[in-house]
Amino acid sequence: MYRINPHYAKLTGSYLFSTVAQKQHAFQDAHPEVEIIRLSIGDVTQPLAPAVIAALHEGVDEMSRAETFKGYAPDLGYAFLRETIVEHDYKARGCHVEADEVFVSDGAKCDCGNIQELFVPESRIAVCDPVYPVYVDSNVMAGRTGVCDPKTGRYEGVIYMPCTRENGFKPEFPKETPDLIYLCFPNNPIGGVLTKEELQGWVDYALRVGAIILYDSAYEAFIGEEGIPHSIYECEGARGCAIEFRSFSKTAGFTGLRLGYTVIPKDLKELHDMWARRHGTKYNGAPYIVQKAGAAVYTPEGQRQIFETIGYYKRNAQVILDGVRAAGYYAVGGTNSPYVWYAVPEGMTSWGYFDYLLEKAGVVCTPGSGFGPSGEGYVRLTAFGDYQKTVEAVERIRRLGA
Ligand code: MLT
Repeated sequence: MYRINPHYAKLTGSYLFSTVAQKQHAFQDAHPEVEIIRLSIGDVTQPLAPAVIAALHEGVDEMSRAETFKGYAPDLGYAFLRETIVEHDYKARGCHVEADEVFVSDGAKCDCGNIQELFVPESRIAVCDPVYPVYVDSNVMAGRTGVCDPKTGRYEGVIYMPCTRENGFKPEFPKETPDLIYLCFPNNPIGGVLTKEELQGWVDYALRVGAIILYDSAYEAFIGEEGIPHSIYECEGARGCAIEFRSFSKTAGFTGLRLGYTVIPKDLKELHDMWARRHGTKYNGAPYIVQKAGAAVYTPEGQRQIFETIGYYKRNAQVILDGVRAAGYYAVGGTNSPYVWYAVPEGMTSWGYFDYLLEKAGVVCTPGSGFGPSGEGYVRLTAFGDYQKTVEAVERIRRLGA
């Protein structure tokens, strides 16, 4: 008789963005006349860079001829892409990463969710609170947590590092010692960053306690200020304690195309070899044409084009930040990040304000409490929308007032 994985039953509700989408669709069905503006999930809206499109066309043509046709991709990804990644994302920033430490995949979300397989079930995980739900949910599914306490919204066994207004929305070293520390900077959902010194502090801490940092750097392309690390490998000693996840989704608009990569330095030899083994066993690689498109992102024209699009989204972020502040809300993020995080009016919950904003303004946000209990009282807006619609959404929020 089969028995199902009991740990799935510990998950609370549906995946955050599925719940948001369900509520949005229910409202739209009931009010077809409302022009809804969706600033919830961080999904891009601008077309792919022309250099990427050209590479996709070329890749398709190559697949049509026997001489250039490609079957299965190499386990770790095509060397042309891994070498380009190393040159541009690491060597250019003075980081030591080698091409055989880069594992190409179909996106950072899967890698962030799957990486926990490499560690024993007893591993204690530490997460920021609020947090991108994938880190916690994937550990819940794997049985690495107890149940979620409905009063606190916290899973038993997980070490939460609250990021609140009082501590500048930055995690502090936890009292209990974790084995795995998930960090995401620029941060999702709050939009904050760590300075190089602050991140170095985390690397030193992880080395001291023997923990691994799982560093999600999916939003690094939005960093505009000096002194903010784009990669954890800018920190001394990080090769001995950190795994880094990167994505082409937000950097180059690949949310629908799917491409990302994970770096596991050979200093963490067992983990490196295990991930290689896992890739070989469970994965057949991102499609050739997508990897070719990924390499096109790093050409001079590709770089110019993607930075133009990132500039477009950064302008949206500024519009949102200025707009919600002008409306009287306390807001952070939006400077080195596509996300703006703002406090809802007093007396309202995150979900209460979500409903209010949808009903009164036709704007969809993401409730902060969906990212964790310390997100209660906040919502997140994304800058990945269309510019005119973003301006309109902010105007509607302003009209509602704080
Ligand atoms: C978000 O909105 O937090 C992200 O788009 C989710 C994701 O990247 O999977």
